[in-house]
Amino acid sequence: MDEQIFSALVVRKHADGSCTRAIEERRVRELPVGDVLVRVLYSSLNYKDALSGSGNTGVSKHYPHTPGVDAAGVVVQSADAAFKPDDAVLCTGYDLGMNTPGGLGQYIRVPAKWLVHKPASLSLLESMQYGTAGYTAALCVLALQDGEITTDSGDILVTGATGGVGSIAVHLLSQLGYRVTALTSKEHAAEFLRDLGAVAIEAVQQFMHNKDKLLLPARWAGVVDTVGGEILATAVKSTGFDGVITCCGNAASHDLPLNVYPFILRGVHLIGIYSAESPMHKRLRVWEKLAGEWKLPKMVELSRIIPLAQVPVEMDAMLAGQAHGRIVVDMQEVG
Ligand SMILES: NC(=O)c1ccc[n+]([C@@H]2O[C@H](COP(=O)([O-])OP(=O)(O)OC[C@H]3O[C@@H](n4cnc5c(N)ncnc54)[C@H](OP(=O)(O)O)[C@@H]3O)[C@@H](O)[C@H]2O)c1
Repeated sequence: MDEQIFSALVVRKHADGSCTRAIEERRVRELPVGDVLVRVLYSSLNYKDALSGSGNTGVSKHYPHTPGVDAAGVVVQSADAAFKPDDAVLCTGYDLGMNTPGGLGQYIRVPAKWLVHKPASLSLLESMQYGTAGYTAALCVLALQDGEITTDSGDILVTGATGGVGSIAVHLLSQLGYRVTALTSKEHAAEFLRDLGAVAIEAVQQFMHNKDKLLLPARWAGVVDTVGGEILATAVKSTGFDGVITCCGNAASHDLPLNVYPFILRGVHLIGIYSAESPMHKRLRVWEKLAGEWKLPKMVELSRIIPLAQVPVEMDAMLAGQAHGRIVVDMQEVG
């Protein structure tokens, strides 16, 4: 097995700081030591993969490198009794695709504790339609529920609404009966977002027109923010009493230009979400929900399947803020 050749996206960083991405042949023996060797059948594209694929050392420190924070496939070899050959498994987060060769290679070797068995009522393809984006959207919704935001509490705002996390959050919240306002920078996204269940669509420019005020009229009971920066700050300032804002992303900015009034005059709660290191009991609970009571009817419409060779182009689109729904990578389809 060690000499098995496979295809992987390899990102190389050059002396002038530039990056190149190409599909290269690797051998299984080049993978790191680990408990379980998995043949990857599907991966998916997340914003973090685009960062890793562009030489961002905040995500991946060592190059050449194969990104891919998500992988779904079958076990080939296992040194851990919890997994045996042919088991269907998912790996999302931890160090996969950061400094460990990731799901954009046809094989990964990882610690057993990074893996979950695929839920029976979800196919490998369906699991990657969710991927880290869906898992993270679900964590955000759980945080709203834990903060006692119910469908009677008021409207929910989702930012970066056409992106991977945003579009699944819009769809999941709508399915659960929440009234969702989708905030987007894209002019032609209204039909897509309404189809996912959003009752209102708001353009970023309109949303931000009063952004410099210390506090804004209370509009939201809850917020799922994926973009950070002034958009998150404006969302916090326009959240009502005891509202809950989940913060998971920085697609627009890592800054948070804010003041204390939303916290001390409205008691709003700003909750951080980090899916990669979330504990196993939570992973199992969330994947069971996504496979069962939270299984979403429009994941097919919401996602596209691409071959591995198309990943570099899609990474550039993501970094330019042009992502639209989810991208699943068929790892058996290279060219
Ligand atoms: N904390 C965690 O565990 C976790 C997990 C997954 C993802 N994330 C983070 O969450 C964010 C979204 O991830 P994703 O995979 O959903 O990314 P994505 O598919 O690329 O979507 C990002 C969306 O954000 C909006 N956007 C992008 N650039 C923007 C800009 N400059 N200004 C305003 N809006 C912009 C766009 O939506 P519109 O055009 O509709 O506005 C875009 O579609 C990323 O920052 C990612 O790193 C965090």
